[in-house]
Amino acid sequence: MTAINRRRALSGSAAVAVGVPLLAACGDDSTSTATDPSSSSAPSEESSSPSEDTGSSGGGAALASTSDVPVGGCFVVAASKIVLTQPTEGDFKAFTAVCTHQGCLVETSTEGDIPCPCHGSKFSLDDGSPQSGPASAALAAVKITVDGDSISQA
Ligand code: FES
Repeated sequence: MTAINRRRALSGSAAVAVGVPLLAACGDDSTSTATDPSSSSAPSEESSSPSEDTGSSGGGAALASTSDVPVGGCFVVAASKIVLTQPTEGDFKAFTAVCTHQGCLVETSTEGDIPCPCHGSKFSLDDGSPQSGPASAALAAVKITVDGDSISQA
């Protein structure tokens, strides 16, 4: 949306420029800042691993609303492969939604645990640890921030 605001601001200044007797330079508006600055802040080009947790990459993506996550249950954000839980009211946690048994996506539930539909593993809402079923490893925790009613990945 800021790009739209910038465009509006630019078009406003272009309208002002029309009043200035420099119309002979009509090709002037084709010069735009087309260079992509995305590579200017990447000190390392070797970082192909998606699990680097240095705290500076990809934060802030909104995952869900707090109202999506049932108290005593969990809500799966399939696109992000993250499961959000609310073990007690107002206490939100997040884990990878990829089951540690054979990689199925766990399911949204209101029944006090995080269930996997494939072979019946169940994980703790509180710490992602396996409670029953074939899975023996915990779901990895994911850092989140809660701002008002919005839950985002930290
Ligand atoms: Fe989840 Fe098997 S993949 S229980």
